[in-house]
Amino acid sequence: MKVLVLNGPNLGRLDLRDSAMYGSMNFESLKSFIKSEATKNGLDADVRQSDSEVEIIQWLHEAAEGSIPVIINPAAFTHYSYAIRDAAEMLKGPLIEVHISNPLKREEFRHTSVISGIASGTIAGFGPDSYRLALIALKEMLK
Ligand code: DQA
Repeated sequence: MKVLVLNGPNLGRLDLRDSAMYGSMNFESLKSFIKSEATKNGLDADVRQSDSEVEIIQWLHEAAEGSIPVIINPAAFTHYSYAIRDAAEMLKGPLIEVHISNPLKREEFRHTSVISGIASGTIAGFGPDSYRLALIALKEMLK
């Protein structure tokens, strides 16, 4: 079963960001980690990253049309993109929101997620393991 793992702005430069929040893994390594954890759970992860809201919306449309489950780290778009929320609302399969850091422990503007209200669930604060846990949750949901 295919799963789209979508990542928002600045996650492509993960290793250059605040290591106290995001650790030291670069995006290519994160991608390999997600793909191998997906395989262990019988899933085929198509891992993508974009700094563009438009591109992420187009990928969500693609997932809706193909009834493909989605794991998404919308990054900063989490906090204000109603356009991404509206696109995600059209999904037919499960949607799991993930964050590497725990936004609720950080600045107040990160305490709002416009995505959580339409997600099947949210996993945050476990570093790259947030994605692994999301894959396990997804596998259970697809049973
Ligand atoms: C993030 C948290 C967001 O607040 C932030 O804008 C990001 C990454 C996370 O994975 O912890 O870019 O989504």
